[in-house]
Amino acid sequence: MANGILKGKRGIIFGALDENSIAWKTALKVKDEGGLFTLTNAPIAMRMGKINELAKACHAEVIPADATAEQDLNNLFSKSMEVLGGKLDFVLHSIGMSPNIRKGKEYGDMNYEWFQKTLDISALSFHKVLQTSEKLDALNEWASVVALSYIAAQRAYPDYTDMAQAKAMLESIARSYGQRYGTKKKVRVNTISQSPTKTTAGAGISGFDVFFDFADMMSPLGNATAEDCASYITVMFSDYTRMVTMQNLMHDGGFSSSGITDSLIEKLTK
Ligand SMILES: NC(=O)c1ccc[n+]([C@@H]2O[C@H](COP(=O)([O-])OP(=O)(O)OC[C@H]3O[C@@H](n4cnc5c(N)ncnc54)[C@H](O)[C@@H]3O)[C@@H](O)[C@H]2O)c1
Repeated sequence: MANGILKGKRGIIFGALDENSIAWKTALKVKDEGGLFTLTNAPIAMRMGKINELAKACHAEVIPADATAEQDLNNLFSKSMEVLGGKLDFVLHSIGMSPNIRKGKEYGDMNYEWFQKTLDISALSFHKVLQTSEKLDALNEWASVVALSYIAAQRAYPDYTDMAQAKAMLESIARSYGQRYGTKKKVRVNTISQSPTKTTAGAGISGFDVFFDFADMMSPLGNATAEDCASYITVMFSDYTRMVTMQNLMHDGGFSSSGITDSLIEKLTK
């Protein structure tokens, strides 16, 4: 049920890898709501070729960019404005990767070069996106920039290792840059803290299935799906949320406010 809430708006969507990606579902939803956008991902992810399927379905151009490379971002923002015919109204940062997690390193045995890569890809890239767009004056007033976070920014999860620090930094950048951009240009910057979701990034965390089920039982509404997240992002891009900025918004079916739930009590009762 589309209502055209993004009609006339232009933007960039980072991070659609395959049909499970939160960014993939978001692209489809934004298109249904009338938004125009370019799609982007790291050149290495392009090789899978999947993004072209999405681009076709959305009538969107694909512009490769490594989100850690300022030059790529410059090119991406400049080309996007050219292709879409004007300044932008929304940006989705849906990017995360930890070489330490990929390579199964424990928290007590971190490779620090990889740790820095985790921070660069998963957090600092958000600052680079914001700084590039500010320098190019690429965003219209009341534009909305959203990045995706996880509750491991606030709470300890054994296998989330250095991604926990990356998410804490990501949320902090949303506050600091949100303050600056809001004051200068009335641009909004927020993070959405999403339930565990079955995607390539999600399934890379060891023990994922267990904490997926745990979160589901701890959430009165159950885990939020990638489609639910796409709907929330769409609303955050719309004018219905004009005064929301510098927030970390929990999108987790009630998980973060639950102490224990009936289903967990039932499960744990001997
Ligand atoms: N899946 C979950 O359980 C979950 C929960 C909360 C938050 N998130 C967050 O949601 C976001 C999207 O992840 P997803 O679950 O859709 O998984 P995904 O694997 O589909 O998406 C991650 C994306 O990051 C991109 N990426 C990696 N390095 C990059 C680089 N250098 N430059 C540009 N792009 C790069 C990948 O190519 C991929 O498209 C991430 O920030 C993730 O941490 C995921």
